[in-house]
Amino acid sequence: MKYRIKIGRTVFANPVLAASGTFGFGLKFPGVANRIGGIVTKGITVEPREGSPLPRIYEFPGGILNSVGLENPGVRRFRKEILPELRRLKCRVIVNIAGFSIDEFIELVDGLDYKRVDGFELNLSCPNVKNGGVTFGQSPRMVERITKAVRKSTNKTLIVKLTGNFIDPLKTAKAAEQGGADAVCLINTLFGMALDESGRHFLGGRTGGISGPCLKPFALFCVERVASKMTIPVIGCGGIMSGMDAIDFLSAGATMVQVGTASLVNPKASLAVWQALGDWCRRHEVKDWEDIVGRTKRQD
Ligand code: FUM
Repeated sequence: MKYRIKIGRTVFANPVLAASGTFGFGLKFPGVANRIGGIVTKGITVEPREGSPLPRIYEFPGGILNSVGLENPGVRRFRKEILPELRRLKCRVIVNIAGFSIDEFIELVDGLDYKRVDGFELNLSCPNVKNGGVTFGQSPRMVERITKAVRKSTNKTLIVKLTGNFIDPLKTAKAAEQGGADAVCLINTLFGMALDESGRHFLGGRTGGISGPCLKPFALFCVERVASKMTIPVIGCGGIMSGMDAIDFLSAGATMVQVGTASLVNPKASLAVWQALGDWCRRHEVKDWEDIVGRTKRQD
């Protein structure tokens, strides 16, 4: 069985990606990065960002809440210091970009037009910034406008990372498709907050994004809802901790998956997910991805 997947102009060796913000720039674990389909970098903005005040992570049974606030070195330092290092990796590299205006998205894409960048993931779903992020992603009109503008600026593979926060992701996925995206990724984290014993917000950023296993049923629902109505592929994300979780997302219609929070617990998690997924396919004598992808709908 061939495990390769083509999205846009990019051929991924297998369908498992490390999700943005959970695997740094992939440089600390090349042995993992080079054996999965690829990595999606932490979100890059035009200007460097210090991120949210501490604490940034809150753990609870079933998941975590984060408010990192898009801490990153900014596009110029990323290009100068990190991009050359990324040439050491053999896997596909997708850069997650977070603009605060359409012009900024174009600036980011123009500034990163290098061979080592296989594609872009438009971050229209970060819940931890006052402007941009999720506020763009809650508006189908903005999703379409941003995607269209970026599409005009690059031929590289274009993935739009969507939110499930107070918007039907089918509407925003359709808008991304209309704008010329090669794929959508859903879902990013869901709004959440935690309090300390004195009733104050626990996180320095006050509110955050929920991720981890508790997200999986909702993420799976979103993927199934969207995938069957799209002509472009859906990349499933949300609480994937095991190979069986990945199979569930493929069954619901995802063409690829991203492993996020699991990598924070175990940096080798994405590789473990890929190995378990491959083993499962061999055990079940799967001949073609099409035998699994979207099979929930075929059973209706
Ligand atoms: O806070 C953060 O940096 C989160 C980013 C995201 O969810 O995209």
